[in-house]
Amino acid sequence: MNDLKLDGLGKKERLKFKNLSKDREKVMASTPLDNIKVDYNTNEIARSLHPKLQYVKVIDIINESSDVKTFLLAPNEEKGTKKLAYFKAGQYISVRIRIGKCLYKRPYTLSCSPKLALNNRYTITIKRKEEGVVSNHFFNNITVGSSFVVSAPSGTFCYERIRDAKNVIAIAGGSGITPFISMAEAINDQLLNFNLTILYGAKTRKDIIFKEKLDKLSSHEKIKVKYILSEEESDKYETGFIEKETIDPYLVEENSFFVCGPMELYKHINEVLKEYNLAKKFIRTDLFFSEIEVRREENFNVKVITKDKEFNITCNGKETLLSAIEKNGILAPSSCHVGVCGLCRSKLISGKIKTFDSDLRVSDKNLNYIHPCSSFPESDIVIKLPN
Ligand code: FES
Repeated sequence: MNDLKLDGLGKKERLKFKNLSKDREKVMASTPLDNIKVDYNTNEIARSLHPKLQYVKVIDIINESSDVKTFLLAPNEEKGTKKLAYFKAGQYISVRIRIGKCLYKRPYTLSCSPKLALNNRYTITIKRKEEGVVSNHFFNNITVGSSFVVSAPSGTFCYERIRDAKNVIAIAGGSGITPFISMAEAINDQLLNFNLTILYGAKTRKDIIFKEKLDKLSSHEKIKVKYILSEEESDKYETGFIEKETIDPYLVEENSFFVCGPMELYKHINEVLKEYNLAKKFIRTDLFFSEIEVRREENFNVKVITKDKEFNITCNGKETLLSAIEKNGILAPSSCHVGVCGLCRSKLISGKIKTFDSDLRVSDKNLNYIHPCSSFPESDIVIKLPN
């Protein structure tokens, strides 16, 4: 007590301060236990915003094109989920699907306005990929009435008023349009307030997803949409790739760029954006790692060490370590599958990997920690999963 600086306090106040903890202890001891409230409104709100898991069922399926479908999801009340958590436009849910003996987790961006969550609905839009175990499962086996488990919405590929400019240039490739349809709908529903220009690159007209919706949304004064086709010539569309000349007409004094699509789009746009010499915070990316071109057509031996077991599996140079781990029925923590959430962070005991993970902390790199969701083997590997 003598060490404390209590300048400015009178004797009476100092005494009060001295007795504070004693008095508090007395009050606590005399309070009957049944008066203590154990659950506050804030706890309830936190639980509804961040549920550990949500049980959902498919109530409708919309064919967007020959290889793209949108699944409308509602809470599966029989399993205990009464309400779906709210989300921010641009966030994803991690879908957990059991196929055979293996449990797969895949992140899918919510392709609707957050307003839909208030009506207890989500949509996810899935493009079928030739080698995609989960996307093929959705196309072949998931029907109206199917149910599965999803995570709470997460991800940071969202508009933030404090960080981002009021003028946003969204550059999308292929199915990378999903976060932007959600942002455009949120603007239309007055949940977000910024100017959004979507520059949407697709191979041909039939590869454009949500064309009708996007055309309707572009009648909003804050939303513009431009399509750029790389493999088809057509009077009404620009042909080629998204270049500086495509972007320039939409720029104002301060702009934020959001990029989402396959790796080749990201690599190309990265070069284009260098010409603007922008601060890092003005470029936000959401890579779809499944389309990375690392591609060493070679099988490697991978020893996977978990808390109580060791597994010997093989992983092709074309697939991520996490994908091979899941395929072999080994439970591994994960959520985003793009090297962002950190849940799959594992120790690389030996071997060489290739990664495009820019979110890995320097200290993790130095201590040989990796994200198996965004790492491809380049030799035989020994890896220890988180407990
Ligand atoms: S699953 Fe999110 S970092 Fe690997």
